[in-house]
Amino acid sequence: MPTSMVAGNWKMNTTLAQAVELAAGVRDGAGSLAGVDIVLCPPHISLQAVAEAVRGSAVKVGAQNMHFETTGAFTGEISSAMLKEVGCTYVILGHSERRHLFGEAETMINKKVHAAISGGLLPILCVGELLGQREAGETEAVIERQLQEGLSQVGVEKMAAVTIAYEPCWAIGTGKTAAPQQAQEVHAFIRKTLEGLYGRSLAQESRIQYGGSANPGNAAELLEQPDVDGLLVGGASLKGKDFLAIVDAAG
Ligand code: PGA
Repeated sequence: MPTSMVAGNWKMNTTLAQAVELAAGVRDGAGSLAGVDIVLCPPHISLQAVAEAVRGSAVKVGAQNMHFETTGAFTGEISSAMLKEVGCTYVILGHSERRHLFGEAETMINKKVHAAISGGLLPILCVGELLGQREAGETEAVIERQLQEGLSQVGVEKMAAVTIAYEPCWAIGTGKTAAPQQAQEVHAFIRKTLEGLYGRSLAQESRIQYGGSANPGNAAELLEQPDVDGLLVGGASLKGKDFLAIVDAAG
């Protein structure tokens, strides 16, 4: 089984000062919690300060997005090398807000996955269905397509760097968590799809996180599911105490 990972996606919710304070709280509280990979994903502008705040601890830093080109005329964008330089280890790619609010298509997400790995970052590739797709019975077809296209031309060796996050769009920021059984069903399907693409051993070792209204009250039950290897936490990661309680549940 892969080590579980709890990542906090702070989205556009922390100023620099708030990000540093939150990171210092997690760093101090995480000291006594072993056996879980902890990743903080602040807004780009706070990455460097957060990386400094957690330096020397086991807490890692991730970005919420990046561009697929390495350099050039891409106003407002950030490259993998820039993220590495300020202390990032991970990068979230294909988050549902990027897909649905900013129109990121599979081809772009796939380019980002390749660019992140070539740039030495570990991608957390998000997949997940919309409510209408779930209700129409399309969940598996949607997830399968997102995995096939998002991971297009990503070979076995590169795939070892990738974490998958299952984030049903209807559960993100809504307070409506997937029932543990619902999450497990999709996670098992993701593992089966990875097995088809990469073989059994890689599928078994791949880390599949759940995200969508995870909180201290539901974390343990979600993490008990055999194919849930961690959580990607939005709202509840903005309170240090809640985030650490979730990390504790994953340990
Ligand atoms: P949430 O966000 O925990 O606030 O639902 C999760 C995410 O978007 O990664």
